[in-house]
Amino acid sequence: MNMKADVQFENLKYRKEGHIGILTLSRPKSLNALNAKLLNELGDAVDMINSDASVHVLIITGDGKAFVAGADIPEMKDYNSEEGREWGELGSSVFKKVELMKIPTIAAVNGFALGGGCELAMSCDIRIASDNAKFGQPEVGLGITPGYSGCVRLPRLIGQAKAKELIFTGDYISASEAERLGLVNKVVSSDELMNVAIELAGKIASKAQIAVRYSKLAINKGIETDINTAIVFENQIFALCFATEDQKEGMNAFVEKRSPHFKTK
Ligand code: CAA
Repeated sequence: MNMKADVQFENLKYRKEGHIGILTLSRPKSLNALNAKLLNELGDAVDMINSDASVHVLIITGDGKAFVAGADIPEMKDYNSEEGREWGELGSSVFKKVELMKIPTIAAVNGFALGGGCELAMSCDIRIASDNAKFGQPEVGLGITPGYSGCVRLPRLIGQAKAKELIFTGDYISASEAERLGLVNKVVSSDELMNVAIELAGKIASKAQIAVRYSKLAINKGIETDINTAIVFENQIFALCFATEDQKEGMNAFVEKRSPHFKTK
């Protein structure tokens, strides 16, 4: 099914380059801070992109000098506890949708990725950062905990000790430090950021898409479960690949010494 071309968002820009979708969060005057409107639009955009079979990889980036400077502080500052719970659930559920996208996602982190911004980047599969990017979970300085699953994803990505240090101090770290910790895959100059992200997305998009998506599923499920169940699950996924045309094409192309032509079938 193809995505409607006429959908307009107030705080998001969306374009396609071949099989690559590029979604830009765009509230630059507030450093792309996540208010309810932007979070709801992001959830709607994910639903639409999910239903567009022509998109094989999604890149998420930010407009201006920030990726996302966090959840919108003025919007939440007077919330009571119940409103705070709903606010946390909104962001966490939208980021879960991002994580569960069947296609691979790449965060192209072009500047500040703080609080909810770091949490959004962590809900993507791969993070490429510009060398001026800054990462952090500064929430304790505002009297709150990370609320969009930062306490959950950060220790899984970089280990408990460093995650606790970053969350307890609220310190910001540079892109190179984030790379050293395994929070980002690669650091490049600002000028190169989108080209590198698009090149990486293009490489992924050129492979057998069912196999790429099954690999994502096996990794995500495998991390959530015990090792024996995870291995059984991977085996079932592996077996399913042999029911695809792309598996026959990929292996025949190898035997016939030619490039494969995958059809996502
Ligand atoms: N919410 C709303 N507005 C924000 C914002 C946020 N999180 N971050 C920045 N802005 C706004 C600023 O208020 C400012 O608006 P005005 O021009 O109207 O005053 C505009 O964006 C530009 O920001 P600065 O002038 O502060 O820019 P700077 O370059 O001097 O500083 C910054 C940049 C260090 C990122 C600084 O803006 C900052 O500290 N922002 C807040 C970062 C933060 O604490 N994020 C965590 C939010 S809580 C959260 O995300 C909870 C969660 O897990 C769900």
